[in-house]
Amino acid sequence: MYVVTGATGQLGRLVVEGLLARVPAAEVAVVVRSAEKAADLAARGVAVRVADYDRPETLAGAFAAGDRVLLISGSEVGSRIPQHRNVVEAAKAAGVALLAYTSIPGAATFRLADEHKATEELILASGLPYAFLRNGWYTENYLGDAAGTVARGVVLGSNGDGRVATAPRRDYADAAVAVLLGGEGGEGGETRENAVYELSGDAAWSLSELAAELAEASGRPVEHRDVTPAEHLAALVGAGLPEGFAQALVDVDAGIARGELAGTPGDLARLIGRPTVPLAESVRAALGA
Ligand SMILES: NC(=O)c1ccc[n+]([C@@H]2O[C@H](COP(=O)([O-])OP(=O)(O)OC[C@H]3O[C@@H](n4cnc5c(N)ncnc54)[C@H](OP(=O)(O)O)[C@@H]3O)[C@@H](O)[C@H]2O)c1
Repeated sequence: MYVVTGATGQLGRLVVEGLLARVPAAEVAVVVRSAEKAADLAARGVAVRVADYDRPETLAGAFAAGDRVLLISGSEVGSRIPQHRNVVEAAKAAGVALLAYTSIPGAATFRLADEHKATEELILASGLPYAFLRNGWYTENYLGDAAGTVARGVVLGSNGDGRVATAPRRDYADAAVAVLLGGEGGEGGETRENAVYELSGDAAWSLSELAAELAEASGRPVEHRDVTPAEHLAALVGAGLPEGFAQALVDVDAGIARGELAGTPGDLARLIGRPTVPLAESVRAALGA
């Protein structure tokens, strides 16, 4: 079976759709916290296994020998090491054939990277066959409120002219599908076991370029305003973000300024067998332009 955890999340849903386009539903299982949220998948013939990363006893039935598993990292920053340890231990006990994990680029040294690096260590120590999908940033991180950004006319950040090689979630999802399917229907490049993929968009861009793309697609003036980390934090908290999350984002911007999310080794395009979706196209789609 091909097994996807976090399957009711944004990336997970795209991975499951990618799998269902290529293999029968009877070969796909999802590990989710809420059976209700996955009812549509159950109706399509996908096996729904209910488990919570926080509760090892629920994970006992989540995996079976020979499963090819994608562990989608949890979304609760600060809790993910024990959570992922529970998942790795359950996968090990079951004897899965592959444990693929959505990690973070190897160059990242900002604090959000710590839990991913620790999870990679846990997986290596388990001795399970693995694939590290070191996902770069999602383009969607910058376009969640594209219309609002255009209305305000300002792209705010504290990464100077740092560049970030984003790709939309769909591209990362297609890469995960290629790795899960391995040689059996992955349409992209060769996949290997015990592999590390540095996944990112084909092109890195700066916030000035994002502002220019938003202006071009909307026909309205949009400027890039680079501020100090303290000003950035104040702006994010003022916009309603919880302080801890805002701090993490400012810390990521420092990493972007250091070039830690700018790598373009081409692993993502190779895995999916096509170029990644360019920023301009995502901007136009986000604005309905
Ligand atoms: N590369 C990037 O730019 C970027 C940006 C943000 C996040 N991420 C990371 O990538 C992951 C996937 O991204 P996404 O956009 O799909 O995030 P998402 O929509 O928040 O999905 C997270 C998934 O994890 C599941 N989950 C969280 N805690 C869990 C637990 N205790 N037990 C079982 N399942 C749990 C959620 O379950 P429910 O559906 O029940 O909520 C959800 O399905 C995130 O969780 C985060 O680690 C990456």
